[in-house]
Amino acid sequence: MARNANWVPDDVDPGLPSAARLSDYLLGGGHNFAADRALAEEFLVAQPNGRAIVRLNRAFLRRAVLHLVDHGIRQFLDLGSGIPTVGSVHEIAHRAAPDAHVVYVDYEDVAVAHSRMLLEHEPRATVLQEDVTDPHTVLAAARRTGLLDFTAPVGVLAVGVFHFVPPERDPVGVLEVYRDALAPGSALALSQFTWDLQPVEMAGVVEVMKKSMNPVFPRTHEEITALFAGFEVVPPGVVPPPLWRPEEEIAGRDDPAQAGIFAGVGHKR
Ligand SMILES: C[S@@+](CC[C@H](N)C(=O)[O-])C[C@H]1O[C@@H](n2cnc3c(N)ncnc32)[C@H](O)[C@@H]1O
Repeated sequence: MARNANWVPDDVDPGLPSAARLSDYLLGGGHNFAADRALAEEFLVAQPNGRAIVRLNRAFLRRAVLHLVDHGIRQFLDLGSGIPTVGSVHEIAHRAAPDAHVVYVDYEDVAVAHSRMLLEHEPRATVLQEDVTDPHTVLAAARRTGLLDFTAPVGVLAVGVFHFVPPERDPVGVLEVYRDALAPGSALALSQFTWDLQPVEMAGVVEVMKKSMNPVFPRTHEEITALFAGFEVVPPGVVPPPLWRPEEEIAGRDDPAQAGIFAGVGHKR
């Protein structure tokens, strides 16, 4: 992989795998290094359904964005947005609502560099390089972009990111700060790894990801539901992604019991 490719920041350490690049590789993207690909292969040994899990998570993200657009939301704050491999949030939103505004947030160098390139000529979206566990900093930076009006509904997307937030960073408290900044009519779409579906495979994933810059902290269904405090979770609730308002027949295709993740959407009334 060319070190001087324009999506490779000068100071990135290609030897330390990142969740953003590992996920990009599992989705079939090209913005990853040899160390990411090697760790992704270890990930697939621990969790053979790994590629399906990241694909199903992205598909949930798409359906959740469209659900929020249907509910009149035209502004999105995408926390832990990753490398825009397939179907970026602004592309999904703009197809349904061309006036939608999106602020992406990630702290990983390649994710941010690639997002900046992609958004160079896009006045309705931008990316911030921030740590999502510093919500006051993120919210202040998001306001400064001028793209988000927090007196109107905002869709906060926390898809596949809070499993990187350790308990000592108080994920419930972090999400409370975001929630308190939101106007009524806003919403939270969230997904994260769980212990409950395949505990043995998940324990393997935890071990593998300790070798990356993003150790993983799976949670129980109860703990994930608690992340929605102050939001009214819409049916079908906090469920494996294939069961969250599927658009097509899933029988025999994607086994919810092997989806690794729980996902849901809650509205702030
Ligand atoms: C697995 S990717 C998910 C990307 C996208 N949301 C999706 O669902 O496909 C998780 C992303 O969260 C980012 N991330 C993890 N912890 C973060 C933090 N504390 N602050 C900002 N970004 C974070 C990682 O860099 C990575 O790009």
